[in-house]
Amino acid sequence: MRKTILLTGGAGYIGSHTYVALKAAGYDVVILDNFANAKADVPDRLELITGDPVTVVKGDVLDPDVLRALFSNHKIDGVVHFAALKAVGESTENPRQYLHTNIGGLLNLLSAMDAGGCRTLVFSSSATVYGDAKVMPIPEEAARQATNPYGYTKLASEQILEQIAAGEPGWAFGVLRYFNPVGAHRSMLIGEDPEGIPNNLMPYIAKVAMDELPQLSVFGDDYDTPDGTGVRDYIHVEDLARGHVLSLNRLFAQNEGHVVNLGTGQGYSVLEMLKAYSQACGRELPYQISPRRAGDVATLLAETGRAEALLDFKAELGLDEMCESSWAWVARQANKRV
Ligand code: WQD
Repeated sequence: MRKTILLTGGAGYIGSHTYVALKAAGYDVVILDNFANAKADVPDRLELITGDPVTVVKGDVLDPDVLRALFSNHKIDGVVHFAALKAVGESTENPRQYLHTNIGGLLNLLSAMDAGGCRTLVFSSSATVYGDAKVMPIPEEAARQATNPYGYTKLASEQILEQIAAGEPGWAFGVLRYFNPVGAHRSMLIGEDPEGIPNNLMPYIAKVAMDELPQLSVFGDDYDTPDGTGVRDYIHVEDLARGHVLSLNRLFAQNEGHVVNLGTGQGYSVLEMLKAYSQACGRELPYQISPRRAGDVATLLAETGRAEALLDFKAELGLDEMCESSWAWVARQANKRV
């Protein structure tokens, strides 16, 4: 019997790629999205990729009536919870909105799941829960610390799930700590599509490559790294999506929870990323060295042994595929606009 998975925020960047991976793995999928941070035509593109009609419920995870109706209209076997606010800088300006949406939304979802007889959840967490980690690469048992309201909501959400798992039988949680998701689907039909000026490195470089922004500002070149610029563990979004399938598979097979990093264990600096993107788009990209960005750390790298041991997960796509897929996606988007 095929299992049905609910993706909250399933029309978003990581949610849409996970949708494709779940369908390929034989799951039925329902998307819940308020489309606050997703284009309206993403479901149409998902239908083009998968060849199947897409079941979408337009609504907010904060709305109990929407969730109640969804769980009564669909037999949901498991949930992947993506729907949340995720901009570090924005969270420092509007902490209450982040607490309400990210923590309130999770609690609302858990109540609706319980009422709907579903106690299997994959939670979208983030390496940001490690704060300024001292041990590199970072193991899952490293100390957690919130360094901004966004990171706090992820840490608090993890602790909420720990409390529930300890106190109520039958819940199985897969907590996935993403490092730096980048890239786009090989079909060039879905990818990262941020509104306005991107905060994150690769979508910013992509806009420079498209001549939509004049140059990249490299936030500091005096870090304790090989070339002085920030080093991060970038992971291709298609690898990341596959990690969600493996997490659900394990939850259904073992009905016990897990907390794993999703990264590659390989770090790249800002200048290395810029060079790789230059090669992907076929031209040197302009940049300037700028002051450090508040809150940034020098290096973030994932310890990947537990994901491999528990989920049999290992990232397969490298920096070139990350940049090439991103460039192919943004170039196709631009061609569609002309
Ligand atoms: C990467 C590197 C910057 C932009 C954030 C969130 C994290 C997760 C991923 C949600 C750093 C440098 C960046 C630019 C630059 N989001 N940079 N110029 O900060 O590692 O992680 O996004 O889950 O929670 O914290 O990613 O892409 O912003 O930065 O030099 O214009 O690129 O200093 O070294 P980050 P990022």
